[in-house]
Amino acid sequence: MSAYPFLLRLEPELFKDRDVYAVFGNPIMHSKSPLIHEQFARNSGQRISYIRIQPELDQFAKMLAAFFQMGGKGANVTVPFKLDAFVQCQQLSPRAKLAGAVNTLWLENGQLIGDNTDGIGLVRDLQSQGIGLNNKRVLIVGAGGASRGIIGPILQEVPNSLVVVNRTIHKAEELVATFKNLANSLAVDLEAWSLLKLEQDNVPLFDLVINASAAGLEQQSPLSDLAAKHVFQSSCFAYDLLYGKITPFMHQALQNGCRVSDGLGMLVEQAAEAFILWRKLNIESLGTRPVLSSLRKA
Ligand code: ATR
Repeated sequence: MSAYPFLLRLEPELFKDRDVYAVFGNPIMHSKSPLIHEQFARNSGQRISYIRIQPELDQFAKMLAAFFQMGGKGANVTVPFKLDAFVQCQQLSPRAKLAGAVNTLWLENGQLIGDNTDGIGLVRDLQSQGIGLNNKRVLIVGAGGASRGIIGPILQEVPNSLVVVNRTIHKAEELVATFKNLANSLAVDLEAWSLLKLEQDNVPLFDLVINASAAGLEQQSPLSDLAAKHVFQSSCFAYDLLYGKITPFMHQALQNGCRVSDGLGMLVEQAAEAFILWRKLNIESLGTRPVLSSLRKA
């Protein structure tokens, strides 16, 4: 059994003596968030506890309300509750509104505030790996919730262009329509393509290819081998939002001579952004990169 069991019910004793934070998800047993936040707390000298909570699928709103009523200071939310969290908040940050989902919550003057730190987490992890986005040609594969969470922060780095490609083209088109005004205001070329377009001969060069599709969960790549051959030029960096294994997408990129990364650094960086919002600290005090190294060794 994990050293960090999850809770199905909240007890008032939990909230005695220290500030309590929690991650809500279902399933939640294997979440690394407690490990990450406890290391941030140690590094920055904060006395907190961080627990896992697994509501039944229809009990999220009730348990979230109970958590804050009992004295909970802040919460992270993961699959499948990010949209429910969005609905529960009385105030939303601009990036939560753009993402249409909330992964970080806290109370301010009695109001539940919702933010989304996923996109900034990705941007910071890329920066830490020497990948800036400004003026780059970026391809995102997938058009679900994960893509929606990262498009706004990527656009704000002002790439040269951003293409969203998806198996079901109309979902990519809908996402592009959502972000068109932001892209236009930043003079970024934003387009939706079908996956089949990547199998044609005239695929342009991409500097960064991000897999935000769920294909890796089924041990698949969203790209056919032909599409991968066109997309993964040797100068390209391939990033998969999944973590903990070499996915078929990463494997294709490696075979074509590209640098690759999984999404573990994004997980740490999105957690760091939540932690500094809650505790009003500088991100430097958290030691995010050593925390990432320790997770890789664990
Ligand atoms: P999430 O919220 O985690 O992003 P989602 O909303 O279910 O999950 O979206 C999953 C994304 O992965 C979608 O873009 C989906 O493509 P479709 O819109 O065509 O369904 C994509 N996806 C999942 N499995 C895939 C596969 N085997 N090949 C290609 N794309 C896949």
